[in-house]
Amino acid sequence: MIKNYGSISNKINHILHGADYNPEQWLHTPHVIEEDYKLMKLANCNVMTVNVFGWSTIEPEEGVYNFESLDNTLDNLYKNGIYAIIATPSGARPNWLSKKYEETNRVSKNRVRHLAGLRHNHCFTSHVYREKVKNINTLIAKRYKNHPALLMWHVSNEYEGECHCELCQNAFREWLKQKYDNSLEKLNIAWWTNFWSHTYTSWDEIESPSPIGEKYVHGLNIDWKRFVTYQTVDFMKKEIEVLKEIAPDIPVTTNTHDYVVLERGLNYWDFAPHIDVISWDNYPRWHEGKCENWKSAVKTGFIHDINRSLKNGQPFMMMESSPSATNWQPVAKLRRPGMQNLASMQAVAHGSDTVQYFQWRKSLGSFEKFHGAVVGHYATTNTRVFKEVSAIGEDLKKLDGVIGTSVEPQVAIIYDWENFWGIDDSQAPNEKRKEYFQTCVKHYTEFWKRGISANVISMDCDLSKYKMVIAPMLYMIKDGVGEKIEKFVKIGGVFVTTYWSGIVNETDLAFTNGRPGPLKKVMGIWSEEIDALYDGEFNIVKMISSECEYKAEVFCDLIHCEGAIKLAEYKTDFYKGYPALTVNEFGKGYGYYIASRNCEEFLNDFYGELIIKHNIKPVMNTTLPEGVTINVREDEKNTFYFMQNYTENDKEIILDDDKYVNVLTKNKVGKSITLPGYSYKILEKRNRK
Ligand code: GLA
Ligand code: ZN
Repeated sequence: MIKNYGSISNKINHILHGADYNPEQWLHTPHVIEEDYKLMKLANCNVMTVNVFGWSTIEPEEGVYNFESLDNTLDNLYKNGIYAIIATPSGARPNWLSKKYEETNRVSKNRVRHLAGLRHNHCFTSHVYREKVKNINTLIAKRYKNHPALLMWHVSNEYEGECHCELCQNAFREWLKQKYDNSLEKLNIAWWTNFWSHTYTSWDEIESPSPIGEKYVHGLNIDWKRFVTYQTVDFMKKEIEVLKEIAPDIPVTTNTHDYVVLERGLNYWDFAPHIDVISWDNYPRWHEGKCENWKSAVKTGFIHDINRSLKNGQPFMMMESSPSATNWQPVAKLRRPGMQNLASMQAVAHGSDTVQYFQWRKSLGSFEKFHGAVVGHYATTNTRVFKEVSAIGEDLKKLDGVIGTSVEPQVAIIYDWENFWGIDDSQAPNEKRKEYFQTCVKHYTEFWKRGISANVISMDCDLSKYKMVIAPMLYMIKDGVGEKIEKFVKIGGVFVTTYWSGIVNETDLAFTNGRPGPLKKVMGIWSEEIDALYDGEFNIVKMISSECEYKAEVFCDLIHCEGAIKLAEYKTDFYKGYPALTVNEFGKGYGYYIASRNCEEFLNDFYGELIIKHNIKPVMNTTLPEGVTINVREDEKNTFYFMQNYTENDKEIILDDDKYVNVLTKNKVGKSITLPGYSYKILEKRNRK
């Protein structure tokens, strides 16, 4: 049985519902601020995140402090029964700071120093910046640590980006010295620098990657990315240190980016151990173009599951989401009625104990004046958005029992940032169609649509608790990972991998024992070459037993069986008859190798069979209509079933039991349930001890 993780703060035992609140933008119109508190209550909010961009309000000049408005905000929130998540303001600097201390301004990769302005653009190494942040954080922590409204600290805001100044170059060199035991020789070999005659003869010659300098040494590129994560985490740890020293019992979080940045940014697995609760900012594109809406839900579900996996199943926070359109997206499409609240409940279904928005009130000017907000420029409660927000607030009030519950999936998908960086940088085999993230999501889709929970993990995670692990395009295999996978299969695990796996080691050097490198034995195959197809070209993969045929595009791996059994073969081209799908019995388990990028029908049939053969259990024993999924959250006492319909049409689901109760209405549910378009229902079955 799954343990209950408890609530984020012992001050409140309700799902948190609220928004980023920036009253500092309205200090010149106090009646607006007064009105806010009334509206917050009407919107059924119980939490606000404050001070995210508050630095220049509380320190208008260097060393001159004015906490009056933040004091008032916290007092007023508390008086109105609303808690506060207080941010440290390091996400954006006051102009006076940038102007006076040039070194705090970031240097871009083409070595240009930024001016003051924007945000997320400081040097994380700068001693001055670290000191200034420490100073303001100390004052905030001391002043508010005992404030009854304070629930938790939120350090900074979406840490992001990299700085290439001299301070950062030196820090990078020091980091490298540590990593390579002070040996330039080790580094030169690990990076293969003699290529194009660029062997480093002194540490000072090493520079971060740059469009005007070195950009094709893969080992340098990936180590630089690792360093950027390291340095950002180091900066974050320094922020947290101060808060913990002054207020050891107040939990700390930092909000991470949505999937757009997931692809290129920081490795959040390195952040997770240092914060108490994971939180992330969720900005999906609903109703996008030709894509069926439910596919956006799959993508978002995948990211929710990363966030739940980051702390091993511990519930997370959806710290931001737009309550309406998202102005920075190319098309700021409105959510169809119902979609907003369905998206909010999706977060809870996957393990979030909060539903939070960016932003509470729409600003009148600057970059986000047309970004969705709970309260618009015309501050009436008579809007679709406001009514929807207050309606979900009502629903969330009935979900106290959900707090701290989680799920323990039998299945995990490996989506690994370092692997992503390596693939992205590899100059092969089909530059435009690598699609690592999309490929992982496609494999994940097969579980989503069957209502089977999955974790999304990195290659460094423990595999022993899973029955099935899927690692699409595991190009990079770090030391020890091959052995771990072998062990997992040997004792009975099912491991699925694909073309373009087992190619390079941790510093992006090719393996010499034949692809898929450390996975060769467990997969029982050898990949001799890989064919890349032009857009529009395809091969056909034919199953040996059923003779079913599927389209293969983009990548076709040319493999030989070395112990594995051929389950399918290519039908055309010079590699006609070569294996296209294999299985290797290894110890008590199985290794499946999918040699080509196949169509969705293939994935549907392949995983459909695998799930039955290896007895993977869905959340509920039923067949789900297209666009519908079920997530489960449970603990010793309760099991909650979150049924979600991401299509615009009614969908009926046959239930596997007639003992379900609708959590929100308390009514008994019969043998089936109808979900109207864009809606959710939450069912419950009491667990017997
Ligand atoms: C990010 C930031 C917010 C806001 C939103 C807008 O996630 O954290 O401050 O800018 O984007 O979508
Ligand atoms: Zn710097």
